[in-house]
Amino acid sequence: MSTPTTVRTATQIPHLLGLQGVAASDMRRYLEIARDFATGSRTDRPLEGKTVANLFFEDSTRTRNSFTVAAHRLGATVIDLTGSSSSINKGETLIDTARNVEAMGVCALCVRAKQSGAAIMLAAGATCPVINTGDGKHEHPTQGLLDAYAFAEAAGRIDTFDLSGLNIAIVGDIASSRVARSSIAAMRALGAKVVTVGPPGLVPGGLGAEVATNLDKILPDMDAVMMLRIQFERHADGAPPPPAGQGARSGAIASVREFREFYALTEARESRMKQGAIVMHPGPINRGIELDAAVADGPRSVILKQVTAGVHVRMAVFAKLAVG
Ligand code: CP
Repeated sequence: MSTPTTVRTATQIPHLLGLQGVAASDMRRYLEIARDFATGSRTDRPLEGKTVANLFFEDSTRTRNSFTVAAHRLGATVIDLTGSSSSINKGETLIDTARNVEAMGVCALCVRAKQSGAAIMLAAGATCPVINTGDGKHEHPTQGLLDAYAFAEAAGRIDTFDLSGLNIAIVGDIASSRVARSSIAAMRALGAKVVTVGPPGLVPGGLGAEVATNLDKILPDMDAVMMLRIQFERHADGAPPPPAGQGARSGAIASVREFREFYALTEARESRMKQGAIVMHPGPINRGIELDAAVADGPRSVILKQVTAGVHVRMAVFAKLAVG
C-alpha cells in the first residue's frame, strides 16, 4: 500500500515557536508575504476548506481575534477555544486538549499559555504546525514580526525590510515581556539597534540588546520607542496594578509614581523625540501609567497600525506553515 503524500512525520512539520535563532531571511520572507497580502498583490485563499484552532489558555484581545480574522481571510474555519470555556477546567491537560483538537483534523494550532515553553511542549509530537501566540515570559513571535513590519512601514522600508541605521528603544517591564524577547530578535536580525530601558529590576541583560536605565538620555536618538505595560500579574506576588501614584505591591519597582517619573512616555518626553520618530506599544496599554493618552493617540503613534500589520503577518504565517 502506498503512503499518502499528505502525511508528514513530526520532524517535517514546520512550527513557529519563537524568533530567537531564526534566520533574517526567514523573517523577511514572512514580512514579504505579509506585505503582499497588505497591498493586495496577493489575494489567494490557501486555507479554503481547512480549519485552524485557536487554543488560548490566557486572555487576549488583539492576538486571538487577529488570528481569527487572518484565518477567515484565507478561507479557513476556526475552532476558538479559551481557557475559561474548555475542559481544562475539569482537569484535562494542555497536551490532551491539543491532541483532541488535532484529532478533528485542523491545519494549525495557535497556542497561548501562561507557561513559558508551552508551545514547544505541544509541538513535540504534534501532527500539525504549532504557532506560539505568546507563552509566559518566553516569546510572542508573530508580535515580533508585526512590530518589525510596523517599524519598517513607518520608515518607508517595506521594499527591503532592512532596518539598518535605525534605533529603537523598548521601555518598561522587559523582564516579564515575551514581546520584548521576540521584538528584539526581529529588530536586530533586520539590522536595527535595540536599547532596552527601565528600572534595573525590570531590565535583564543577555537579550542581545543594549541596556540603559536613563530614558531621557537616549530618547532623542531613537527612531522608535516601544512602551511596555508593567505585567504585575507575572511578578512574584501577582499583585493587580495599583492606580498611578500609589505604591506598587510588586517588589520590582518602588512605586508606580516613581516608574512614571523616570520611564513613562509622557507628553513632555514625547516632545523631545526626534522628528519623524514613532511611538509603538503591543497593547494592552495602561493609559496614564507607561503611556500618556495624548501620546498613545497622537501623530507619532503607530499602535493601531501594529494591529493592522498583525492580521497580515498572521496571514503570512498561515500561508507559509499551514498549507501542507
Ligand atoms: N499584543 C498582545 O499580545 O495583545 P493581546 O494580549 O490582547 O493578544
